[in-house]
Amino acid sequence: MFSNEVPETRPVSISPAAQVGMAGVQGIREQLSRRVFIDGVWILPFIQGGKGVGATNGANAGAWAAENTAGTISGTGAAIGYDNDGHPITYPYTGRTRRERHEELVAWSIEGGILQATTAYEASGGRGGIRINFLKEAGGAMRVMRGVLAATRTPGGGNMIHAVTMGAGLPSEEDARICADEGVYLDPIISSVMALKVLLKRAFKNWQGRYAELIGAVVYEDPWLAGGHNGITSRENPAIPEDPYERVKALRRVMNDNGMEDVAIIMAGGVWHLRDWAHWLDNPEIGPIAFQLGTRDLLTRESPVTDEWKQLVLSMREGDVALNKFSPTGFYSSAYQNGMIREMYQRLERQVSFARKPDEIMTERVEGLAAANKRYFVSRDDKVRIAAWIAEGFDMPLPTPDDTLIFVTFEKAREIKRLETECAGCLASCSLSTWSQDPEKNHSTGKRADPRVYCIQKGLVGAIQGGNLDEKLIFAGHNAYKAGDDPFYRNEKGDVFIPTVKQLIERLMTGD
Ligand SMILES: Cc1cc2nc3c(=O)[nH]c(=O)nc-3n(C[C@H](O)[C@H](O)[C@H](O)COP(=O)(O)O)c2cc1C
Repeated sequence: MFSNEVPETRPVSISPAAQVGMAGVQGIREQLSRRVFIDGVWILPFIQGGKGVGATNGANAGAWAAENTAGTISGTGAAIGYDNDGHPITYPYTGRTRRERHEELVAWSIEGGILQATTAYEASGGRGGIRINFLKEAGGAMRVMRGVLAATRTPGGGNMIHAVTMGAGLPSEEDARICADEGVYLDPIISSVMALKVLLKRAFKNWQGRYAELIGAVVYEDPWLAGGHNGITSRENPAIPEDPYERVKALRRVMNDNGMEDVAIIMAGGVWHLRDWAHWLDNPEIGPIAFQLGTRDLLTRESPVTDEWKQLVLSMREGDVALNKFSPTGFYSSAYQNGMIREMYQRLERQVSFARKPDEIMTERVEGLAAANKRYFVSRDDKVRIAAWIAEGFDMPLPTPDDTLIFVTFEKAREIKRLETECAGCLASCSLSTWSQDPEKNHSTGKRADPRVYCIQKGLVGAIQGGNLDEKLIFAGHNAYKAGDDPFYRNEKGDVFIPTVKQLIERLMTGD
């Protein structure tokens, strides 16, 4: 389906203008070939962004490491094996309760994590760095991390894995202790200086004065541009992106003040052409720096995502990827706005406040519902809107935790209910299914299920399994549109070219 011919990276006949370009290329290549000390190894300044579920694995992380860069396995729902088409085998749940399925999920995640780590370790040939990414908010994340790291120790007292990175939530003191016990660095992913300050006081408090012993690098993930979950807080405006240079400069100051002058920062989010980042190199305001690629890494031959997913990335246009608040973790997330995301927005539009009993404002009883026995009272204006939705088939009202109703079709309501029932507790706490992994809370958030968020398990596991991607959750960075315009991904005949990881790294070294 894809071409094998490597496109020319530079014009063959060199004009004076191109010669200047060549000097620039040589300059940036020279700078980018200087190694950076990350997670105990000297590597080229390129890092593979970890991607759950299964969008990075042992084979492709190992391919990055083999190029003397760092590869990152996704430890969230790691594959325990593959079918004949190369798709990951879905976890064969048999448990009848959520709690039983959650236990199965933890056991398989450990098994999958060990398999992927071993694969990466063997594929790396002892070169580069191997990292594993966990979602802090993933169900049983700490148990999975402990189980994987304990089983990936090497006879010499080291570990196949050099570092743990943690997204969607900040690591705890216990996470730090587990990593230290297993001889593995813990690289925090933060999106603001404030988050690092909090971590140094909490998770890393026992390492004060010697942070570099445990922190192999600090990942700064741009909360406006990075793919996946985003660390936008109430201090930031999601609609007003801030300059990463200024934010990373401030981060470096705080790191230096805390004895981390030699700890590298990994810039993640929005990195495509390295030439755009030339002023970050050899810059004392930034210090040791490497660049993490999440979306661009989807476009390699080793990437486990389907060819359709790769084609989709190449077809994305500016603005197709946007921040949304549909993740059941409560975090913002950045995804391609396909049919699934559009349907989530439509649910929000078909939303009204309601009361169970009539009052001065909620005077009108909703009639004509698929569930005729339900008694909901709404305002006079909303009754008119609801009548129009019911006429279009959206005749199932679903209450939300904010005392509103959303209107969906009978089939959609059934699907949402089924997702709640089949929940395997894949998050520590889920606003869709109300699952909580905390036994003291009797495994419930104690809140009403929120039908305005997506099922992350269905969306992400579904995406890696293939099928109709319009119905799956396609996390992507906001610069994904650059793929379609990048001549690297087309050969002279105009066919799509998907590079190997090796070819990608060579290309990155040119600044393109
Ligand atoms: C499909 C996809 C899945 C991702 N999953 C995770 C994840 O499970 N954990 C995590 O920390 N980051 C995750 N990320 C973020 C990446 O690791 C990376 O930091 C981010 O994509 C960088 O931004 P970029 O896409 O602009 O390169 C994901 C990104 C994508 C595109």
